[in-house]
Amino acid sequence: MKNPIEGHLLPDTARVGQDGHLFVGGVRVADLAYEFGTPLFVYDEAHLRNRCRDVVSVFGDGATYATKAFLCKAMARLAHEEGMRLDVATGGEMHVALAAGVPADRLVLHGNNKSTDELAAAIDVGVGRIVVDSLDELERIERLAPSGRQIPVLLRLTPGVEAHTHEFVSTGQDDSKFGFTVSSGAAKAAVDAARSAPHLDLRGIHCHIGSQVLRVDSYARALEVIADFAAGFAFDEVVVGGGLGVAYTSDERAPGLTEWSSVISEAAQRVGLDAQITVEPGRAVVATAAMTIYTVGTIKDLPGIRTYVSVDGGMSDNARPVMYGSRYETFLPRAAHAERSKPIRLVGKHCESGDVIVRDGWVPPDIRVGDIIATPVTGAYGYSMSSNYNRVPRPAVVFVADGNARLVIRRESIADLLSTDTG
Ligand code: LLP
Repeated sequence: MKNPIEGHLLPDTARVGQDGHLFVGGVRVADLAYEFGTPLFVYDEAHLRNRCRDVVSVFGDGATYATKAFLCKAMARLAHEEGMRLDVATGGEMHVALAAGVPADRLVLHGNNKSTDELAAAIDVGVGRIVVDSLDELERIERLAPSGRQIPVLLRLTPGVEAHTHEFVSTGQDDSKFGFTVSSGAAKAAVDAARSAPHLDLRGIHCHIGSQVLRVDSYARALEVIADFAAGFAFDEVVVGGGLGVAYTSDERAPGLTEWSSVISEAAQRVGLDAQITVEPGRAVVATAAMTIYTVGTIKDLPGIRTYVSVDGGMSDNARPVMYGSRYETFLPRAAHAERSKPIRLVGKHCESGDVIVRDGWVPPDIRVGDIIATPVTGAYGYSMSSNYNRVPRPAVVFVADGNARLVIRRESIADLLSTDTG
């Protein structure tokens, strides 16, 4: 038996109407299914704006949104309007941000294997920073830079810190494909190489210890390593990456942005790091802003085993349960205050048993075929990791605000699915 879905898993403007229906952005969530179809990602625009403003207000001008968590033109524009820079990890992300009208100098290009084309395009448009990840890349940038120009770069360091998160999203440990290892001397060699490259303007250093980090003391440990390393160099900028975790289930609690920033600034003071310190969160900005709504297609009660509730999406719109064993909650937006006393397993429509969205979900006992069912906290790495597995078209995405819903990504069509076939 579970209580009604809890407020900390819902977007900022979520309210329950007198009829028990959930409203977000002043819009009745269940109604969106009829207007836009399902599966549908529903983002609370005020929540997105609030989180961007929060990050900028605690971390200042360098605060950067990691677009990999969720990107479309509307999102890029929103983050830019709210004063954030944008971290883009590929040429694709960079081009979406540019197409949205974000000035190139507000972009920070990441990636452990940027292609020559990606680097050339970034240099050509004049991105604000390139975060250099290897000596090969460093030489490539030097070669590509037009004469008379210096390319602003940061060096990505691997501080040798465990982030206490899932192995797939841990990046700060020495055994990593990312960055220059501090302990081996590779980082020092990279600084020397960057400083002696005439076309590189080394602004500072960068690290990212991992994602969905719930223990913020890990950042203090990373800063200690960085301060120790940076002592001889006087860098202007230090980026401590993103990674702040969020709560996905009612039993989880996550540190907020303020706690994150206090731990970082206290550690910086303690270790005497005298540089502009910035962060680049993705998940903490967008995860709780959205929920996915689905339509219940079949309900199978297996006596003595469990009840399977199947919906019209699945691992193609939320790969996280399959990839990381991530846990989610589920509820009925038409009965947001109802006790959830019926245990179910929420599954998708894909052809494998691993296609589970919520392994141990609870819903009101009157759940029926045709119901609109929601999974909250799907705003990060949901749409952005979606696929066309089983040739399922990707869902649509709406932003809701002030009683209106605006389509920001339309649902893919069968024509979209066929558009890349040549034969
Ligand atoms: N900066 C860098 C260099 C990163 O690699 C990442 C995430 C971020 C910032 C943003 O991290 P965030 O604040 O969103 O945790 N697909 C996985 C997450 C992969 C994160 C990859 N890098 C998931 O669904 O949990």
